[in-house]
Amino acid sequence: MIVAANWKMNPELSVAAKLASDYCAASVAGVTRILFAPHPYLVPIGVRLEGSGILLGGQDCHPSAFGAHTGDVSTGMLRDCGASVVLLGHSERRADHGETSELVAAKAVQAFSSSLSVMICVGETLAEREAGNALATVLDQLAVSVPPTLPTTALTIAYEPVWAIGTGKVATAVEIAEMHLGIRGWLDEAGFDQTKILYGGSVKPGNAAEIFAVPHVDGALVGGASLIAADFDGICAAAAN
Ligand code: PGA
Repeated sequence: MIVAANWKMNPELSVAAKLASDYCAASVAGVTRILFAPHPYLVPIGVRLEGSGILLGGQDCHPSAFGAHTGDVSTGMLRDCGASVVLLGHSERRADHGETSELVAAKAVQAFSSSLSVMICVGETLAEREAGNALATVLDQLAVSVPPTLPTTALTIAYEPVWAIGTGKVATAVEIAEMHLGIRGWLDEAGFDQTKILYGGSVKPGNAAEIFAVPHVDGALVGGASLIAADFDGICAAAAN
């Protein structure tokens, strides 16, 4: 199981440092933990994580190796700052920055060339689900976002229904099961048979066990609850069971 914390643009550094230390204090056997920290925090937070086994990740990268791209961060820079993984195509980036699945694929190729593994996010909006197009939307996103050349062990998929992110609304076990089965089928067909599939969207300690019991759920991508160490630890404990 994998449990990944997505801090997004939170919190202030002193709080972040304490949070990272609290993560390290929890003993979690059999669960891979990943922390996607804001870029300016990668180095100071990486120092806190040393020896903990928690993997450090960036929340985005540029598709080019370097160049005149003011404000952007390269995959080599992420690597130099201690990251081993990068989160790509989060719905907030797709919405806030107009990121397309084509761009996500280009970033993934660049990330892998810098020896970073990638976690690619997919998910439907409420309108797409209500129109009966949830699975088709997600499979279309996968088909374009996932570079066919990526090794299966370098890729993780996070299924995050957009309407469940930060809203307190969680997909039902049946909805999650249908989607994860569909994603599993697509991945296996495309040769990504070792790729894990995480669920994300308002995962909390109180609902984590039920979500982890759903077939083909290999862990969680956690936003809000990852900002409270006890909640993140509770989700990790549910994953360990
Ligand atoms: P949430 O965010 O857990 O706050 O819903 C999840 C995410 O956006 O990765």
